[in-house]
Amino acid sequence: VTTDLSLPLDTDRLHHDAHEAVEALGRPGSRSLLPTPALLCDVDVLESNLAQMASLAAGSGTVLRPHAKTHKSAFIARRQLAHGAVGISCATASEASAVVDRMLTDGWTGPLSVLVTSPVTGAAGSRRVAALARRCNLLVAVDHPDGVDELASAVGGGTLDVVCDVDVGLGRTGVTGPDGARAVVAHIARHHGLRFAGVQGYGGHLQHMAGRDERCRATESANNRLRSVIDALEAAGHQVGLRTGGGTGTSAIDIELGVLNELQPGSYAFMDREYRDALGDDLEVGFGQSLTVATTVVSANQDSFVTVDAGLKAMATDAGSPTVVGRHDGVAYHFFGDEHGLVTRGDGAPLRRGDRLDLVPPHCDPTVDRYDALWLVRGDTLVGLAAVDARGCSQ
Ligand SMILES: Cc1ncc(COP(=O)(O)O)c(C=O)c1O
Repeated sequence: VTTDLSLPLDTDRLHHDAHEAVEALGRPGSRSLLPTPALLCDVDVLESNLAQMASLAAGSGTVLRPHAKTHKSAFIARRQLAHGAVGISCATASEASAVVDRMLTDGWTGPLSVLVTSPVTGAAGSRRVAALARRCNLLVAVDHPDGVDELASAVGGGTLDVVCDVDVGLGRTGVTGPDGARAVVAHIARHHGLRFAGVQGYGGHLQHMAGRDERCRATESANNRLRSVIDALEAAGHQVGLRTGGGTGTSAIDIELGVLNELQPGSYAFMDREYRDALGDDLEVGFGQSLTVATTVVSANQDSFVTVDAGLKAMATDAGSPTVVGRHDGVAYHFFGDEHGLVTRGDGAPLRRGDRLDLVPPHCDPTVDRYDALWLVRGDTLVGLAAVDARGCSQ
């Protein structure tokens, strides 16, 4: 599957224990040298996921601006751009800064369009945005006239593209209807440095909805809410060029509905247990599980279970337990404290002290944020190492 994948080697933030593994990169069996817990990404599955989403969008009139909140990594952002994405989305200005800085340091010379999808609040946040706008083509979401004013004063003599965030049912951010949108857009028009680029409608409540029919119906009604705001803005004489939103669970449906002309899926690059449970085989495209957490059995003195070195600190815990890759024989993981997990022995191959297991994280985005490094693997071989450049950048 992989063709022009240039594998990064990035030892900046690497713990010294891992240098033995770095030296063994490319050597068969090198995966077993990794100190655990460690975050792993199967590069062939990753590439296949990126290619599948790209081909879903190709020729549909809907472009991709994948969300970097999932991977927080310049390396994967570059791969997504190589697969035809028009730019990237980032959750916050500091996340965007970290990814953009790394791309520029690594010599990126192509166009770099970045959308910050969360509305920015306050003077400091707006200054971060204004600084970022000098390093890339920046779009930023806004959902209140005061936010528009804050951005305008931070931008000073520069220019910035602004997107009106619309609540399509999630209720998290966004104007709640046409009146709010008209007020925001009218405010944008008052400022010389700001340009109204379009609307954002992200239906986070739809993404993990089980059952394709139900997800379809709910996505249609969310898109209708966005459509009514677009119609109201157009009736007021505003041109709504960009209609961005969507995620992994609704991408195919959003493309069919055609209200959005740009999609922001994030999790599809990695997938996770929560997405797999919710969507099962509903997804038209079979995104594979590329992300795992490698763990080691550190104690095996009990009859019914063993203890592994991946606990509450090794992955996000908001979405239940991870599953154990390749084990369907009663081997199940349970959290067992900060540094430990309990894995039931099941009735298959015996588990011994020192054995390695791979876990499918329950929720990919916040799991990735717990690691500095993403190890790239192909089978039992370590083939590269990418930094999680925007780790901890939630501001
Ligand atoms: C605004 C926005 N767009 C897109 C996404 C990507 O969604 P997913 O990871 O489900 O593909 C998210 C995820 O939380 C988001 O907050």
